[in-house]
Amino acid sequence: MPSMMIAQITDTHVQAAPEHEPGGDSSARLLKVVRALNAASPAPDLVLVTGDLVNDGGPADYDHLRGILSHLQVPYFVIPGNHDDREALRAAFGQDGYLPESGYLQYAVDGFPVRLVGLDTLREGHDGGRLCLDRLYWLERTLEEARGVPTVLFMHHVPFLTGLAPFDRSPMEGADALASVLSGNPQVERVLCGHLHRPVTTRWHGVTVTAAPSTSFEIALDLREGADFRLVPAAAPGFQMHMWTKTGGLVTHTATV
Ligand SMILES: [Fe+2]
Ligand SMILES: [Fe+2]
Repeated sequence: MPSMMIAQITDTHVQAAPEHEPGGDSSARLLKVVRALNAASPAPDLVLVTGDLVNDGGPADYDHLRGILSHLQVPYFVIPGNHDDREALRAAFGQDGYLPESGYLQYAVDGFPVRLVGLDTLREGHDGGRLCLDRLYWLERTLEEARGVPTVLFMHHVPFLTGLAPFDRSPMEGADALASVLSGNPQVERVLCGHLHRPVTTRWHGVTVTAAPSTSFEIALDLREGADFRLVPAAAPGFQMHMWTKTGGLVTHTATV
């Protein structure tokens, strides 16, 4: 039976020269998760790293991150989040061959039972994300290429309102247009996101959308109107394992290390 294990790590927020690290040593925490993924059995087929890769977007930070991720024993694929710098990210990871040489950091990963499509929701200078017409048009064309293949989208920002006030104050621009693209593409099994620093799931315009926990720090569950960011003290680094089978679809497991 064709099957696939997709590991997802997100919001790694590493710093080459750490200053303020709200959850503790983000590099050490990420390395723990890398070791857990290397020890996983069955092993993941690949690892998705869904944005806020580094905390401050500097070239040295990306080199430092690349050093940690080089310990992974399977291929990994990165996309940007609001803490990232598109060109510094491209400079560090472009050599891996899947990132476009210019423009938005969007691409498809083919050759596995599930097709993976990474989206660039970075809106420079803003915490909230954005899918402009250029990016949505690219998505529409990319999905058209393989309508019959089960597909997972991965992007940093969530397209829905979460009830977590600090995130809902900066909703993703272009979410409605994304919903209309997805309505014509039922091969999309899931949209995988990060950004929220806690695991969250919803059915959004008929598609299941999930956010994975962060490796670096966890945001408290506080659904009060007007609530501010609060951390969960001493939270363990987390990740998700998405297991796909032809008969069972995509099943998501959340783990902490
Ligand atoms: Fe983050
Ligand atoms: Fe973020």
